[in-house]
Order: sequence, then structure tokens, then C-alpha cells
Amino acid sequence: MWSGRFSENPDALFESFSESLSFDRRLAPFDVQVNRAYAKALHRIGIFSDAEITLVLKHLDHIAIELEAGTFPFNRGDEDIHMALERRLTELAGAVGARIHTGRSRNDQVVTDMHLYLKTVNQEAQKALRALSETLIEKAEHHLTTVLPGYTHLQQAQPILLSHYLLAFFWAIQRFRQRLEENFVRLDVLPLGSGALAGSAFPIDRAFLASELGFTRVSPNSLDAVSFRDTFTEFSGVLTQISVLLSRLSEDWILWSSQEFGFLTLPDAFSTGSSMMPQKKNPDSLELIRGKAASNAGHLQALLTLEKGLPLSYNRDLQEDKLHIFSVIDNVLPALKIVRKIVATSTFHPEQMKEAVHLFTLATDAADYLVEKGLPFREAHVVVGQAVQKCVREKQNLTELTLEEWKTFSPLFEEDIFGWLTLAHSLERRNLPGGTGPKSVQTQLEQAKEQLRK
Ligand code: ARG
Repeated sequence: MWSGRFSENPDALFESFSESLSFDRRLAPFDVQVNRAYAKALHRIGIFSDAEITLVLKHLDHIAIELEAGTFPFNRGDEDIHMALERRLTELAGAVGARIHTGRSRNDQVVTDMHLYLKTVNQEAQKALRALSETLIEKAEHHLTTVLPGYTHLQQAQPILLSHYLLAFFWAIQRFRQRLEENFVRLDVLPLGSGALAGSAFPIDRAFLASELGFTRVSPNSLDAVSFRDTFTEFSGVLTQISVLLSRLSEDWILWSSQEFGFLTLPDAFSTGSSMMPQKKNPDSLELIRGKAASNAGHLQALLTLEKGLPLSYNRDLQEDKLHIFSVIDNVLPALKIVRKIVATSTFHPEQMKEAVHLFTLATDAADYLVEKGLPFREAHVVVGQAVQKCVREKQNLTELTLEEWKTFSPLFEEDIFGWLTLAHSLERRNLPGGTGPKSVQTQLEQAKEQLRK
């Protein structure tokens, strides 16, 4: 393309080192779209005659078909998808094709392709999040009153409802949906017309380009448009945080499916066996989702580091952004869909969950009981702590202490303490908004459904 300036061919090793076609070919359909719109814009300012634009559009249609069918003839020398398409167009249309790059640079072209591509992926991610949200609601509804131990530090803390646990993920996901919607607004801006950096010197109708390509606005500054990748990094950041969220669900469910917990059975379709041990059923799907979250954190780090220290405007370093962005997408989108299926088809074991709740998790309620009787919480905490200590020593549950024993810790204990020491009572006491009480969670479930209707 730039043979005019050079008297030597590129070094073969450098040529293969610098190509991006191997990964940016996924932008091909968007590059065709951009070429189509750009050709029409050139026609409007007289670069293509009526006959020529018809020819160019016809050949671009043909190229689209070749790409779709996998018969597009890529050449060894095609550095990236933009050059491959322009080369092919010129092969097919001759001198006419050689005018397509008038007033355009690959710098504004590549970001335009990326805006289009990421808008599509953004919507796909929103769809997947919505589907997972619906599945979480269904499962929560099914397990509205299933009790399990709630943990902090992986130590049993207080009893909670499984529905409450599932809805915790639901609400986190709603924040991600919102972040994606906001990111979409920033992606919905047309960079084309920015040229290499200073803006095209041809009076390209950018509003026309925007409407052809489905953008709401045109970028207000050509340097801004070709230099920065913050909107792409933001998108990758949101997706990476989704990976992290999925990883935390995976970690819980891996534990829960173990023999020690036995809270759930994972679907066979998302489990693997062992090449050696016939009895094994391993949660590899969830482990890989956890593993891919690590990869995504690395890619996000790479994106941030890639951009820091670059002088304005475009630098070739930025070609590497796609490697990381595409990897982030490929790691998280399937994971989202797989997690949805796992949530939908796993079997919970409410009996095991309930049996696993250690009755020490009612210790906070015992302290709260004393508060109700007038004791300051800090003192109540010490009293119940002593009762727990005795139970630990004597291998007893809190519920097994007699009233006389309770009274040795505090005279405030009366017969009614026993009514406080049940899972149901503990949950009932948490019916404030946002709590794990059954009435609260019922309300929460309605709110969740309302959120999806909006
Ligand atoms: N493949 C390049 C990229 O992805 C396209 C832009 C090349 N621009 C340049 N001035 N060399 O960044």
C-alpha cells in the first residue's frame, strides 16, 4: 500500500510479527458495513460517479458473500482486515476501488469497526444478563423458604434463605446491566471522518455516515476519536467484573457440590469424570469459569497498561487492544450462558442445607433477646459468648441448655428464650427491607420481577 515511499520489501519476520488479520478478521462484517457507508458518502461529494458507486456497492456485496461463505481469498501480505478488504475491492473493481480510502485512515476505520462490533456484543451481553436474571428469579421463587447457613469467612454466621442468596446475584447483575447500558451510550458515537488524526480534508457528511451506520452522534474531536480506548476498556472492565461475579458463584457452588457440603447436585452435562477414578464427578465447568476470570483480570490489566504512556494520537501499540478485548469477550459470554444453564438445572438439597445449619448461628439472636430485656448489646454479646464457650466445651448446642443453665449466665433469661432459638424465629426477625426474613424476600422477589418488567 505504501510502496511509493519505500525501496525495500518488508522483512518477512517483521511482516508476520505486525499482522493483525489473524484476530481482527472478526471485524470483517463491520468493515464491510463501514466501507459501504463510506463509499456512499464519497459518492455524495463526487469521488464516485453514479455508475461507480453502483459498481463499488455490488463488489462490496460480493465480498460480504465471500466472507460469509469462507471463500474470501486472504493474501499473505494482508496486514489487517481493512487492507485485505481494500485489496480485494481493488482486485474486483479496478481503479474504482483504489478511491475508497480517500480522506480516510485505518485509524478512524478501525475504531469505527470496533464501535459497531462492541455495540453488538454489548447488546448480546445485556441479553445474557437478562436471561440469567430471569433464571435466578425462577430458582429463588422455587426455593423461597429453603434455609441454609450463611457464611462470613467461610464460617457459619447466621441462617439465611436460599432465595435471598440467589437474589443477591440478581441485584449485582442489575448493576452490570445498567453499566452496560451506560457504556452503550458512549459506544454509540461515530469516529469515521476523523481521518488519521486531524479530521478528513474532504467534506464528508458525517451525519449521513452516522445515520447509515446507526450511530446517534458523531465524535466531536478527531484526536479524541482515534487516540483513546477508554470506552473499550470500560466495556472490558464491566465484562471482567462480570467474570469475577460468576467466579464467586462458581466457588460457592463448587464447595456446595462437594461431599462435605452436599447442598446441591450439578447437572451431568456440565460435569466431567476422571480418567482414573470411576466414582468422580468434577465441577470443571465452574472451575474453568473461575479460571477464565483470572485471564480476564490479566487482559484488563494489559489494556490499561497498553494505553498509559502513549503520546497522542494513534500509535501502533493500540492494535494490541483487540487481542485483549476479544479474549475478555470470549471468556465471559459463554460463561454467562453456561452459568444460566447450571443455575436452571442444578438440584438443591434443602434437607441437607437445613441440617448443615449449626445452631450456634442463633447466638446473635440470643444476644438480641437480652437486648430486648434491657441489657446493652455489648454486655449481651459477652454473656452469650460465655454460653457458647460452655457449649463448645461440653459438646452441646445452645438449644440444649436448660433455663437454669441460661440463668447462670444472666438472670434476664426466661422461659421465652426457647422460642427465640429456632431458625424460623431467627429469619422472622429479619423482615426489614433488604433482610433475609421470608416476608422481606417475598417483597424483594416482587421488586426483582418489577425490575425486569421495566
Ligand atoms: N490494524 C491496525 C490497528 O488495529 C489498524 C490501524 C493501523 N494504523 C496505522 N497507522 N498503522 O490498530
